[in-house]
Amino acid sequence: MPERAPQLVVALDFQTGPEALDMAAKLKGIAPWLKVGLELFVAEGPGIVRQLKALGFLVFVDLKFLDIPNTVRGAVRSAVKSGADMLNIHAIGGLDMARVAVAARNEAVAEMGLTTKPLLFAVTVLTSMMDPGIPVLHGREPASMVLELASATRAAGLDGVVCSGQEAARIKAACGPDFLCLTPGIRIPNPSAPQDDQRRVMTPEAAVAAGSDFLVVGRPITRAPDPAQSARDILRRMAQA
Ligand code: C5P
Repeated sequence: MPERAPQLVVALDFQTGPEALDMAAKLKGIAPWLKVGLELFVAEGPGIVRQLKALGFLVFVDLKFLDIPNTVRGAVRSAVKSGADMLNIHAIGGLDMARVAVAARNEAVAEMGLTTKPLLFAVTVLTSMMDPGIPVLHGREPASMVLELASATRAAGLDGVVCSGQEAARIKAACGPDFLCLTPGIRIPNPSAPQDDQRRVMTPEAAVAAGSDFLVVGRPITRAPDPAQSARDILRRMAQA
């Protein structure tokens, strides 16, 4: 079992601030973390992060930075200053970009006098790029690429990687138990419930058993008839693992 209890992150994939804030109000006191991704951030800007934090949530700013190191430095600083409690970059940006991201996070933390460092994660290989025929993999097996990028991410000093539940156990074995795994693609087994566009799905209990530290869940909660009840159900399953 991981030393700290796995945590639920609800993905607020909405087009507008009011929709996101309405969902946040339904989840207050139940889910500790909310995720603001590209759709919502591009629509609303960093103000939405501050509004969600004002409601008492921890916020994952999921913008997956990938650019030259100097630009990533500025983006990481801005994200930390917006109040992000968790943020991410692409591991394929290379070691220099990853190290600069860690340094920028640490500088912004010191400048703001924060007592807790926002967690910095890297995306290894996007699920949409997992086909070995995709040129970016150069014919490599996605699984070996994921492990290599996870090891490089750890070497650069990041806190963890975004990965599928299927990869979590191998990443923990290679990078150590303290290296964090954050897992999307969580689904409750229900023949009448959609898997949406997720390819490699796992139940909450299986993802926790595999070693995932954070479970990212969107539509199974946000499109449920009763989002609060759905979040409670997922938390109960996580606790059972
Ligand atoms: O609605 P659903 O539970 O599929 O949402 C999953 C969230 O996790 C989305 O915000 C999506 O962008 C994100 N994500 C993912 N798969 C990845 C990386 C991120 O689904 N490989």
